[in-house]
Amino acid sequence: MSRGFIEVDYGSDETVPEGMGHDREGQAEAFDAIGDRYDEAFPYKEGQLAAAEWLIGALPAGARVLDLGSGTGLPTARQLVEAGFEVVGVDLSRGMVDLARKHVPGATFHRLDIADLGPDGPHDLGRFGAVVAFFSLLMLPRAEIPDALRTVHDLLIPRGLFTLSMVEADVDDFKIPFLGNAIRVSGYLRDDLRKVVEEADFKVIEESSYSYAPAISDVPPEEQLFLHCTRRD
Ligand SMILES: C[S@@+](CC[C@H](N)C(=O)[O-])C[C@H]1O[C@@H](n2cnc3c(N)ncnc32)[C@H](O)[C@@H]1O
Repeated sequence: MSRGFIEVDYGSDETVPEGMGHDREGQAEAFDAIGDRYDEAFPYKEGQLAAAEWLIGALPAGARVLDLGSGTGLPTARQLVEAGFEVVGVDLSRGMVDLARKHVPGATFHRLDIADLGPDGPHDLGRFGAVVAFFSLLMLPRAEIPDALRTVHDLLIPRGLFTLSMVEADVDDFKIPFLGNAIRVSGYLRDDLRKVVEEADFKVIEESSYSYAPAISDVPPEEQLFLHCTRRD
């Protein structure tokens, strides 16, 4: 398939990823195949845990939080549910959504494409006090990232918070081997990432980076960038 996909056999899911006509070839299939091995390859998520902890300290009790590209639900959706938030996760991969539902029964997960969440998209999830996107926007070609950031902006309530992580890399829709599969990833050098985020009307409040060596050899060491932002209205 060279465009976003629509599946007919959708089981109990009420939502169908369409990707607004964007090229998603192989992306969901790779994560369907990777499943729990993702958490085995990335067992130490120090930066991610700290980033969610920052959010937990900054949000009012019971806030709604959207986890974009929620993966297996671990550690983030679980961490946020345990902190008492109402958590909604979305992910393109059916396999990931199934795992997340099993790991974090206290959250709601939808199988959805980030591109379908925009104001003209077919799915309205309501507004959120915060959005997290840990290593998920890097799955989009660069041409789509400003729109995705705009969508995050529109999904937030005024002064809502946005925490983002990306791998620092100057690449666009670049095919890499990943846990026995091929995926396409994009990235920016840190100053460029900050610029793209600010251009989508966010104020960057805090920034951190972590050198990360995954536990599996076909994934090279990486520099992870974390940005804490607030919606500029
Ligand atoms: C690198 S994983 C990160 C998972 C999780 N956020 C974490 O940090 O543990 C990227 C996730 O984004 C999902 N994804 C990829 N493209 C997507 C899209 N267009 N819309 C929604 N989710 C997507 C993948 O299926 C995968 O679960």
